Amino acid sequence: DSPETVSPTGVPTGAAKTAVSQSGRFLTMAQGTRVRETDHSLKAGPRGPILLQDHHLREKITHFDHERIPERVVHARGAAAHGVFVANGAGVGVSKAGFLGAGTETPVFVRFSTVLGSRGSADTVRDTRGFATKFYSDEGTYDLVGNNIPVFFIQDGIKFPDVVHAAKPHPDREIPQAQSAHDTFWDFVSLHTEAQAHTMWNMSDRGIPRSFRTMEGFGVHTFRLVNEAGETTLVKFHWKPRQGVHSLVWEEAQIINGMDPDFHRRDLADTIEAGAYPQWDLGIQTFPDTPEEMFEGIDLLDPTKFVPEELAPVQIIGTMTLNANPTNYFAETEQVAFHPGHLVPGIDVTNDPLLQARLFSYIDTQISRLGGPNFSQLPINRPLTPVNDMLRDGMHQTAVHGGVAPYKPNSLDGGCPFLAGEDMNAYIEVPQELPASRKVRESPATFDDHFSQVGMFFRSLTQVEQDHVIQAYTFELGKCYEENIRIRQLQSLANIDERLCAEVAQGLGLPTPASTVTMEESAASPALSQIGKTWPID
Ligand code: HEM
Repeated sequence: DSPETVSPTGVPTGAAKTAVSQSGRFLTMAQGTRVRETDHSLKAGPRGPILLQDHHLREKITHFDHERIPERVVHARGAAAHGVFVANGAGVGVSKAGFLGAGTETPVFVRFSTVLGSRGSADTVRDTRGFATKFYSDEGTYDLVGNNIPVFFIQDGIKFPDVVHAAKPHPDREIPQAQSAHDTFWDFVSLHTEAQAHTMWNMSDRGIPRSFRTMEGFGVHTFRLVNEAGETTLVKFHWKPRQGVHSLVWEEAQIINGMDPDFHRRDLADTIEAGAYPQWDLGIQTFPDTPEEMFEGIDLLDPTKFVPEELAPVQIIGTMTLNANPTNYFAETEQVAFHPGHLVPGIDVTNDPLLQARLFSYIDTQISRLGGPNFSQLPINRPLTPVNDMLRDGMHQTAVHGGVAPYKPNSLDGGCPFLAGEDMNAYIEVPQELPASRKVRESPATFDDHFSQVGMFFRSLTQVEQDHVIQAYTFELGKCYEENIRIRQLQSLANIDERLCAEVAQGLGLPTPASTVTMEESAASPALSQIGKTWPID
């Protein structure tokens, strides 16, 4: 790697460097041979048939024929930017990750996305937004692959294909849910009531952000940090935009979708180009790492729950500034490959069953999306640290590996670099005691409450915001053809909040059902009286 793969601001410019090879005085073919002209095929006379011999024509057309790669199965539409993360040192007490050391500057690449639309869909739809950050750290690349909503639809990754199939366009007409029938989405969330929490956030103003710059970001899952002393802390990650949190209103969103479907990506690129660099503070909520992995009655392994900031304030550990636009959309924004398993020493995962499935899914999908197992060699995906792995060959291999013995230990290629007992700052999974158990296909009882936190979120909104939520449910449910689905979803709303249910029912012209949540069940929900307790970082 030559030094110019990193710009003075720390921005990796590997892709830009590749683009430079597309310059020069002469047009050439792929092999570098100069081409005199590229507008006429080789023919048998000016009117004659085109000759199969024309290798320039065939190279040009064949390459064009293969320009498209599959779009992401979710989060297909995105926009990205380069930047830098500067740590303030407040995270050092809980994590030994080097990039959290005070004053450490780490280049980042961030991709924002919608979840459900195809690559060419509009920006200001009602949807969750992805907020994925690649930290090119000195200890290897760390990916924080988050969303702009702190909870997720499902509690177990085995349902991910199901929820995505339910929310993507209907299989018959391929018309997105937002414009046509909504039956499968509302069928799913009313039958799988764990999805009510995420759905409420989607129906709130958070579902139609004003700009990527005005979104919060959340790691959603609980992660386990480990410090130099080997002490562990459970955390949830938060990005807080210094631009504030702002949303569109529904009417604005619809008009913008029609007038400028690229509204969000244009906004991001324009502001960076103008030098108005957007910034986010990275914060953590910290929780003691107890065997129960619970905090104030909230199961920290349940990704449909958040921990109110009144119970665990967000403590800022650094600031990210986005200061450069991609040079080439395909090379960078499209080919970037995030993965929740890209971890560095000091950051580990938990047994959240959604996170566990994600650890499998991303690399698997990228092998098919990026044409084989060597996509980590693409400029945007290359770590800044030297790579010395034992991965060999495969489609699109660009490395010329030396040596003869890609296995360790070996006695041929310089012996074994692993020195027993030496502190190599290697990644080591935190040893965790596992309780004696049996194989089961079930969830813990602490995953059962699907409603009380959803109501708490709704009631935390201002009156105007609550009205937006009511209007959103009424509008979206109004698009359901099946009345029994609308009625079943109203039952969930009755279990969430009485006024919300009554007003949506009235808007739909349906009777208001009574709540089926018993007093006993609501008493089991997180104790709000505990609000105010905090867990300091040290
Ligand atoms: C993208 C799977 C849950 C955030 C993707 C992709 C897959 C996937 C297959 C496409 C990746 C690619 O083609 O490069 C899953 C599965 C999940 C899950 C199986 C649950 C079991 C989540 C959750 C979050 C999330 C909970 C947020 C915390 C993202 C983001 C992207 C993404 C931000 C886009 C990354 C980019 O910009 O390239 N996910 N996902 N996903 N996922 Fe998930």
